[in-house]
Amino acid sequence: MNGSSAKPYIAVLNGPNLNLLGTREPETYGHDTLKDIETRCAAKLAKTDYDLRFAQTNGEGELVTLVQNCRDASVVLINAAGYTHTSVALLDALKTVESPVIEVHLSNPAARESFRHHSVIAPACTGVIAGFGAHSYLHALDAALALLDAR
Ligand code: DQA
Repeated sequence: MNGSSAKPYIAVLNGPNLNLLGTREPETYGHDTLKDIETRCAAKLAKTDYDLRFAQTNGEGELVTLVQNCRDASVVLINAAGYTHTSVALLDALKTVESPVIEVHLSNPAARESFRHHSVIAPACTGVIAGFGAHSYLHALDAALALLDAR
């Protein structure tokens, strides 16, 4: 996971195939790479009291481990990609996170194929931000910061 310090942090976790952003179905996911998104998230959080920890994995078990390892995050943002719609193990891991969890998607799964309409992980999430391309991540960070401000 990129970034680590004793400062409070917001975790941004990314699931399978998101490492291919930029070249993967750009008509659906846009032209920004995951590194571009990480850079923008880091720039946004640089103006705050929160560090960024940003990670991506293609593995379901590894995503579960990433979730377990960021249970001390102030907020967890997660784009679980395809595992959003399938992974009970990920739901169970997210349920152990006491901090707010925000589900993020570049596309709007509700406007796509029916198998994307159901999010298995939604019961563990405070809210969902979807459909704004790379900006979904920045909107989700705004939502995270608003939640933290309201505390
Ligand atoms: C996605 C939407 C998922 O349905 C899909 O499997 C992805 C990406 C999104 O960011 O729009 O891989 O999570």
